[in-house]
Amino acid sequence: MENLPVRIFLVDRKAADQAYGDIMLDESGIPTSVSQLRLVYLAKWAIMASPAPFAASTGVLKSLKELSFKWNEEKSSLEVTIAVDGTDDVPLAETPELPITQLPSLRDILPESCPEVMENASAGADADDDVVTPWKVAAGGSKGVDYDKLVTKFGCSKLTPALVERFEKATGHRAHHFIRRGLFFAHRDMEAVCEAKEKGKPLYLYTGRGPSSEALHVGHLIPFIINAWLQKVLDVPIVIQLTDDEKFIFGQNKPLEEYHRCAYENARDIMACGFDPEKTFIFTNLDYIGQLYPTVLEIQKRATFSQVRGIFGFDDSCNIGKVAFPAVQASPALPCCFPGIFGSRPADPVRCLIPCAIDQDPYFRMTRDVASRMGFLKPSNLYCKFIPALQGAQTKMSGSAMSSAIAVTDDQQTIRNKVMKFAFSGGRDTAEEQRLHGANLELDVSYQYLTFFLEDDEELEQIASKYSSGQMLTGEVKERLAQVLGNVISEHQRLRSQVTSEVLKKVMNPDRPVLRARYKQLSQ
Ligand code: TYM
Repeated sequence: MENLPVRIFLVDRKAADQAYGDIMLDESGIPTSVSQLRLVYLAKWAIMASPAPFAASTGVLKSLKELSFKWNEEKSSLEVTIAVDGTDDVPLAETPELPITQLPSLRDILPESCPEVMENASAGADADDDVVTPWKVAAGGSKGVDYDKLVTKFGCSKLTPALVERFEKATGHRAHHFIRRGLFFAHRDMEAVCEAKEKGKPLYLYTGRGPSSEALHVGHLIPFIINAWLQKVLDVPIVIQLTDDEKFIFGQNKPLEEYHRCAYENARDIMACGFDPEKTFIFTNLDYIGQLYPTVLEIQKRATFSQVRGIFGFDDSCNIGKVAFPAVQASPALPCCFPGIFGSRPADPVRCLIPCAIDQDPYFRMTRDVASRMGFLKPSNLYCKFIPALQGAQTKMSGSAMSSAIAVTDDQQTIRNKVMKFAFSGGRDTAEEQRLHGANLELDVSYQYLTFFLEDDEELEQIASKYSSGQMLTGEVKERLAQVLGNVISEHQRLRSQVTSEVLKKVMNPDRPVLRARYKQLSQ
């Protein structure tokens, strides 16, 4: 009844053994001389290595004849065999010609209730269990996401002190404290950004926001704060995409018009992060799609469903808008989307740098692949860690659970209440124990937030040393955080109130001679 497709892929024996072990084998096993396996899988049901022909989907089978059950003591599993009628002339599943590079995880393949999946989920300590996608961040271990492993998994690079130093030299500015403290920690092709700055080659910034609600939370501010700083030290234009379309397609049943309205509200908060209106273009996809569309189409033509499914984990139940959307987020990384800034055919290759949190990486892995095939430079990326949820480092601060978040609209009292009530403490259970053993800073949410928002390096160091050695108690750290966040938010609210409709109109207009002149000046 589910009409599930049967998928078949060829994969290196070692990789399959590592990923699936015995789960893919029947009793007879497979001789060790076989070095490549043909794996057949039915999402959320089963996976098996087999050379036999398989029906293309469960829906093509006519009827079930017989069910038999066999308990396999050794594997501790119940094997269910279903005999089916009407298998003659059914369409068969095709074997892809090429081996796939990204194997589906056990969670994709087996039912939630399967012991292997449950064990993996509850073991928790292994960072292979971290789920980081543009829609969900959930760490396996209590210390939060293992960012080192994520860098390897996503195939990006760590931001090294040598590279930060080169960036400082190229811009003539000391690195922002987000960079100095390793909160921005990973990148792709930042060397090329340094080189562009060193040689005066054209460069622009691109970032964005999915306007799911009227208010941003402080986690969202991080990429915008660094983008505004980078705009200043690199002296470049920035384009900011508001994905009202994405939120409608992926979101929680608000009308499209509501996401569009939120985009305009969010644009005010974004401008309050300190962007230079003369060098900033903000657009909502609904408004600007006409300009993006030729590029969206070029990208859609070059990206296959199997690629997008592999990167984003889409399954057959996804609406087709989801499958099409990645090309829309990819497009602004190509300068041809902004003829009002770069002209319709930029003479010089223009480099794009995309600073954001690492959850957006899947989009830009795809973008980089397509960009080079379209004759553009691959965009560079600069990635930050997540501000955790108030309740602990296992999930990121999220707009869909406002009790997990400090919103930019919160007043001083609300901020204080949330910090005091919810911020997960890495301190000990009693004041005596805390004085004796000190706090675990890695787990302590208030301390983690201070690393983002307390600019004074010296004070932060003092808090770290006193709190971890037991001289400071959780309540004192929380008080300090409430003050720091209170100041950050009230300043944000003050700056937001200065973003008038005129300013918005200006930054949301793509055809400004001043933007164009700015770019020309840079590329001379
Ligand atoms: P969105 O609205 O989910 O997030 C906006 C930006 O905030 C980052 N972010 C966080 N950073 C630190 N701590 C957190 N807890 C946290 N939560 C979110 C996100 O990485 C993002 O940079 N699809 C995108 C919108 C988009 C975009 C882009 C983002 C369109 N084009 C280009 C970055 C770059 C989205 O829904 O972001």
